Amino acid sequence: MLDVQHLSVAYGVTEVLRDVSFTVPERSIVALLGGNGSGKTTTLNVLSGLLAPRGGAVRFEGRSIAALPSHEVVRRGIVQVPQGREVWSGMSVRDNLDLGAATRRDRRATRADLEDVFTLFPVLRDRQSRKAGTLSGGEQQMLAIGRALMARPRLLLMDEPSAGLSPVVVQAMVAAIQRLHARGLTILLVEQNVGVAAALAERAHVLMNGEVALSAPAADLLRNPDVLRSYLGR
Ligand SMILES: Nc1ncnc2c1ncn2[C@@H]1O[C@H](COP(=O)(O)OP(=O)(O)OP(=O)(O)O)[C@@H](O)[C@H]1O
Ligand SMILES: [Mg+2]
Repeated sequence: MLDVQHLSVAYGVTEVLRDVSFTVPERSIVALLGGNGSGKTTTLNVLSGLLAPRGGAVRFEGRSIAALPSHEVVRRGIVQVPQGREVWSGMSVRDNLDLGAATRRDRRATRADLEDVFTLFPVLRDRQSRKAGTLSGGEQQMLAIGRALMARPRLLLMDEPSAGLSPVVVQAMVAAIQRLHARGLTILLVEQNVGVAAALAERAHVLMNGEVALSAPAADLLRNPDVLRSYLGR
């Protein structure tokens, strides 16, 4: 579904991604792991059209998307859940969700998708009129995911959805992502939590200093403490 080949990105003269290649098959969950500053968010930002690559190719369903503006990437079905959630904290939960569907004109389907989000995350239905900033971290993460779902993605880019959440809430998040996957959504999951990646993903690619240092079945990473130490710094 997504094919990334020899991607390179630079901020000014600083090269932050070098020769990054990986694929995301339809209906799979693929994990992108790596320590702080290894280039995970930069990779997602290229895929969602927020950042132009310096070189390489990005193909989605056989067509190049590397030069498209972000709204056009969303229209084709790639939607990003940003790192740190970044919900609009002064707005209501409902307004956050409605704005996720701002580019859509199919009102009936949008209404059905809102019901779907509420079924997936019942707490959001209960908190509809609350300001997003008053929600807990886990609830804000659910809102950020719900807002992305309102744009009808076929490929969801998730940037560290487990970051800063308690173990119990992380488990709930893992279960929610499993439900999304079971409904046919394809997911590229950026994580620093190897346990979360191993629980969800088939394949994992580990970034180190902007390069893919290792690609392996995600479950293998947990069995290999050396990998965790050298590539993920723990
Ligand atoms: N706007 C920018 N201008 C210059 N350098 C940047 C910019 N954004 C990121 N960088 C640098 O690019 C590198 C990769 O950053 P990126 O945010 O992709 O890492 P990351 O893997 O997502 O890290 P984290 O786990 O901390 O979120 C880092 O060295 C970072 O300092
Ligand atoms: Mg990041």
